[in-house]
Amino acid sequence: MTDWQHGFYKLSLAKRQQIVAHQFELTGNQQELLQRQVDGVNEQMVENYLTSFHLPEGIAVNLLVNQQKYVVPMVVEEPSVVAAASNGAKLVAKNGGFKVTSNKSMMIGQVVITDLKDVDETVHWLQQETIKILQVANQAKPSMQQRGGGATKLKIRTLKKDWLAIEISVDTGEAMGANGVNTMCEAVGHWLTDHGFNVLTAILSNFATQSLQTVTCAIKVIDLATDMMTGEQVAKKITQLSELAQVDPYRATTHNKGIMNGIDAAVIASGNDWRAIESGAHAYAAIDGAYKGLSTWQVENGYLNGTMTLPLSLGIVGGSIDIVPLVEVNQRMMAIESAVQLAQVIISVGLAQNLAALKALATNGIQAGHMELQYRSLAVAIGASESEVEQVVKQLKGIKHVDRNTATAVLNQLRKDKNNGRN
Ligand code: MEV
Repeated sequence: MTDWQHGFYKLSLAKRQQIVAHQFELTGNQQELLQRQVDGVNEQMVENYLTSFHLPEGIAVNLLVNQQKYVVPMVVEEPSVVAAASNGAKLVAKNGGFKVTSNKSMMIGQVVITDLKDVDETVHWLQQETIKILQVANQAKPSMQQRGGGATKLKIRTLKKDWLAIEISVDTGEAMGANGVNTMCEAVGHWLTDHGFNVLTAILSNFATQSLQTVTCAIKVIDLATDMMTGEQVAKKITQLSELAQVDPYRATTHNKGIMNGIDAAVIASGNDWRAIESGAHAYAAIDGAYKGLSTWQVENGYLNGTMTLPLSLGIVGGSIDIVPLVEVNQRMMAIESAVQLAQVIISVGLAQNLAALKALATNGIQAGHMELQYRSLAVAIGASESEVEQVVKQLKGIKHVDRNTATAVLNQLRKDKNNGRN
């Protein structure tokens, strides 16, 4: 470690920015950018805070879930995601919308004990002590029980011949509750240590299999028709793509990435922990031993039926949700009243996103549909100003093979013409 990093966390923000600017020889503009993007709330949220990294927020429209209309704020850097979610949602809304069922939202906390001399005897003892263990958990976080939730159930699983996992089911109410569950697990861990056990770890599991959401939708096959293909042809390809994601992990990974494009973007906008949702989703995709597509699509009686089940444990209060001001605005736009409702909307965004991606793959391919958005990003990337972006995009649309070089040539020509008074 070099000197300048030593004690960095103790410095004021101004000093930190100054040191970084000096260390990495930042230009005046770069230093100004670091300063301009400082945000007082964010400064309190992470260690060694330097500046804030902004991402675009757009709203997906047309979503109909359990007969209720929603708009969904999405935070994402990929140009086509919001448009695709809205398109997929529109197609489904025209056909009655998404239907989502939820099981009771419970978090799972794990306390793992190792080096057991007699596993059967320990299981027996733990079963006898169930009420006491739940009491220890609830006493560590009494506010949860006061709000009508708390630790309610224990499950004991053998992990290997002398290891056990004690799994505590916790009703975290309207919060995702990670901190609360961790506090409970640690209290149980200490209690077990006091009883002579070796506790390897005491922490929540992000594999939230007690917070499952299942979404379905049914679209008339004729509604899938394009200028070039019949609805039957499109539907057949979508079902084949669905099957491909069930048999091939390479395709399944991309199929699921498309689903998570929508889910992550909406989860971020809701102020929840999207890494927790990501890891839970991928674990669920491999629940029967092989990694598979999370959604499936089938044709029956003239309808294309889509379905997906996911562990989605989300909150509408607590953690960064109460800290980030934009989250309150986003919740207001979504008109969300409960954590389960939020999960129902977000899983629907995931299936809408997947439908849009598969339909594009089944028809024109992914690139064609979102050319304009990609050209826009390309124009920004090559340095076009706000007023130049439109013109660059317009010209790129008339060019067959577009890449960075062609876009740069277009921009240069535009500027030349402008200087010559032709624009
Ligand atoms: C791109 O971000 C996501 C897709 O690749 C998903 C898919 O292939 O299903 C379009």
